[in-house]
Amino acid sequence: MRVLVTGGAGYIGSHTVVELLGRGHEVAIVDNLDNSKAEAVRRVNAIAGREATLHVVDIADRNALSDVFASLRPDAVIHFAGLKAVGESADIPLRYYSNNITGTLVLLEVMEAHGCHTLVFSSSATVYRADNPVPFVESAALGASNPYGRTKWFLEEILHDVAASNTKWRFGLLRYFNPAGAHPSGTIGEDPNGVPNNLLPFIAQVAVGRRDRLQVFGDDYDTVDGTGVRDYIHVVDLARGHLRCLEKLEALGDEAGCRVWNLGTGRGSSVLQIIRSFERASGVDIPYDVVPRRPGDSAVSYGDPTKAREELGWSAEYTVDSMCADAWNWQRTNPNGYS
Ligand code: NAD
Ligand code: UFG
Repeated sequence: MRVLVTGGAGYIGSHTVVELLGRGHEVAIVDNLDNSKAEAVRRVNAIAGREATLHVVDIADRNALSDVFASLRPDAVIHFAGLKAVGESADIPLRYYSNNITGTLVLLEVMEAHGCHTLVFSSSATVYRADNPVPFVESAALGASNPYGRTKWFLEEILHDVAASNTKWRFGLLRYFNPAGAHPSGTIGEDPNGVPNNLLPFIAQVAVGRRDRLQVFGDDYDTVDGTGVRDYIHVVDLARGHLRCLEKLEALGDEAGCRVWNLGTGRGSSVLQIIRSFERASGVDIPYDVVPRRPGDSAVSYGDPTKAREELGWSAEYTVDSMCADAWNWQRTNPNGYS
């Protein structure tokens, strides 16, 4: 297949492009490099031994995006491009709504103009209302609690509407739980700008000496050890889920419509369990202080992956220990990320 990957220079996108190239697909990446570096694509191509082309284009730039469609003539799009920082989204909501929602609307219009109607969308477990029982199933109540999450939720609704308008559209909405880890080669991984918001990259930067101590946000939750529980999923498992989704949409043809799948492991790990796992993987002590809860955090989030297993034939294969080992391998060999 010819696949156009928006946001393909980013963390999850780069790992997915490796898998696509490995399966013989032709790949073009569209990324404005707002939160990534071209070096990631160079390394992706080195791992795969084949070339994905990088087009430094904003998805909201209709003319430039049209040119990429005209040259690649993609059969399908995997759409990762978006801003993703929860806290920042509350400070600059207009930028989030414009980038994530307007950008996706332009993408859909350009797809329509070029006769491409298959799209896999990066949604998020954040679209589940926190008061749903765990594990979250796809039919659980939706309702995000911040502007970032609402861009994902609203886009899901938009994609349902578009798919309902004409059976030629085929959409796969993948709700990721907590992506973590890195490619086992250690040459690509997560490279956040500034202070990491997420747990694993923060721990990795403490381990490599870029930060002094981790702050553990609360140890008074009703969980196994009082710290927050999440469903961490290896980024390579996640990447492979996108290929299974593409294959499923292709097989379903006009029956596809707009379908939703969780991509998670079905198991939760606490913050302290992740610290211990990282210490085992790295042999480095992770000093930490327990501080008050982070506003907006829930106690427990993990997904039910049954639907993806039964319908996509996909399930997570990597363990939390291997996720920590791969995150460490990447951080140890690239202490300053791609810089
Ligand atoms: P990332 O920031 O590493 O990758 C996103 C990429 O999109 C970046 O390379 C960025 O430069 C690019 N981009 C952003 N806006 C763009 C635009 N207007 N035009 C072109 N390129 C643009 O993030 P990631 O962790 O790889 O996440 C990929 C997708 O998955 C995002 O949509 C994110 O919201 C979603 N998601 C991520 C997580 C997570 O924890 N990492 C969880 C759930 C969902
Ligand atoms: N945590 C700490 N210290 C830190 C960072 C995180 O204790 O420095 C804790 C959090 O309180 C939470 C757990 O580690 O209990 C995981 O936190 P992350 O920030 O790594 O992940 P979240 O579950 O809060 O959110 C992530 C993404 C969201 C996405 C969501 C669901 O950041 O964008 O997963 O997919 F929506």
